[in-house]
Amino acid sequence: MKFHIFTFGCQMNVCDSDWLCRSLTAMGFEQGAEEEADLFLINTCSVREKPEQKIYSLLGRLTSYWKKNKDVFVGVGGCVAQQVGKKFFQRFPHVRLVFGTDGIAMVPQTILRLISEPELRVSLLDFEDYYPERENNWPEKMPAQAYVNIMQGCDNFCAYCIVPYTRGRQKSRSSKAILDECRTLVNLGVKEITLLGQNVNSYGLDKFGDGVSFAELLYQVAAIDGLKRLRFTTSHPKDIADEVIKAFGELSCLCPQLHLPLQSGSNRILKLMGRKYTREEYLDIVDKLRKVCPDIALTTDLIVGFPGETEEDFEQTLEMIELVRFENSFSFKYSDRPGVRAEKMQPKVLEEVKVRRLAVLQELQEKLTGESYAGRVGKIDEVLVEGLSKKQGKDMKFWRGRDSGGRVVNVPCSSDRDLTGEIVRVKIVEAKKHSLLGEWVDE
Ligand code: 5AD
Ligand code: SF4
Repeated sequence: MKFHIFTFGCQMNVCDSDWLCRSLTAMGFEQGAEEEADLFLINTCSVREKPEQKIYSLLGRLTSYWKKNKDVFVGVGGCVAQQVGKKFFQRFPHVRLVFGTDGIAMVPQTILRLISEPELRVSLLDFEDYYPERENNWPEKMPAQAYVNIMQGCDNFCAYCIVPYTRGRQKSRSSKAILDECRTLVNLGVKEITLLGQNVNSYGLDKFGDGVSFAELLYQVAAIDGLKRLRFTTSHPKDIADEVIKAFGELSCLCPQLHLPLQSGSNRILKLMGRKYTREEYLDIVDKLRKVCPDIALTTDLIVGFPGETEEDFEQTLEMIELVRFENSFSFKYSDRPGVRAEKMQPKVLEEVKVRRLAVLQELQEKLTGESYAGRVGKIDEVLVEGLSKKQGKDMKFWRGRDSGGRVVNVPCSSDRDLTGEIVRVKIVEAKKHSLLGEWVDE
């Protein structure tokens, strides 16, 4: 039987899909292209309106496979599944499984049952009162880059955000389980680990914490012999501890890169959003980070058109972008999510105003990204090669990877050697709009 997984949304979903893929493969299933598959799994995202709509159109498209072959079925997981739940069964005859984040550990066994009992439909939507550990079926060798979940859920209830409802309360994973997994991964060839959670800075601070703080966890993971690079995401500015900032100056494998969602540059809007920090406090964190790690590449998330956002509030967001000089940002138009506080907040910002603000913001960001990338030219950095570049040269292969700051770098190489998973030293020679060009410099 062949399966095909569609993944939407954040890196946690990517990590979950990777796990599902490994588990199903270990059970004898084979991963295949969409046209060949009998089993589809969709890992969904409902953080904004747009990704949620994509899932409905995909489900509509998949009906055609089921019409041709009634053995075909779909499992829907992730945030939309948690929200919509069993209603999927009424709307889509080919959906026979829905699962939330805590139900995922049971999915492989449930799929076996669904295959042997064609009339069955199953929902795995309960939130567990602990971090559900999953059985791991590691292959003999892993790609050089891996994600490790350190927690689930979120307790912050920012006014616009659906995550606390779809992913439940914050539950930290035990530090021992995290360290064991990281060690195993490094033994299997992993060179770069990204620690994942909705708000990693509050790791260990919930009732499931085992006394190890996020900063301590960083130091313990960084000490694993053979680990070359460490990253983490996502951070909340209100929770970033001084010890974590200090780690950027002390841990050589901690990459000089931080994704620190700002959301808005206006104190008034930040308050309405329930973010619990001010722009001044945010700037203070940035100062401290740059003091210990001057080269740090800062990226962020921004929302335009939150209810009540005035032109003046928006100007303050633009001002913050210039003050911090973000390397890059992910920016979104505010969209109402069902059941969140902001849904009831007024006045809503007109769509055309949101469209314009987003365009202005993104233009400013492109300019800053361009300047920052241009500033990389001449620097020597290390690139972890992920695979071949999309564009290839006539008599040269081009390899694509990421530098220590997380920027995409393309590296030409005349030899036939497969560089996938290798860390190569490069000199940046050119800045493109969204990537850099690096020349391989031999040791
Ligand atoms: N509308 C627009 N953007 C949102 N985000 C979260 N909820 C919403 C919403 N309702 C954005 C935030 C968050 C990112 C993952 O998605 O910027 O950091
Ligand atoms: Fe959503 Fe705020 Fe939690 Fe991030 S910290 S997941 S924005 S509620």
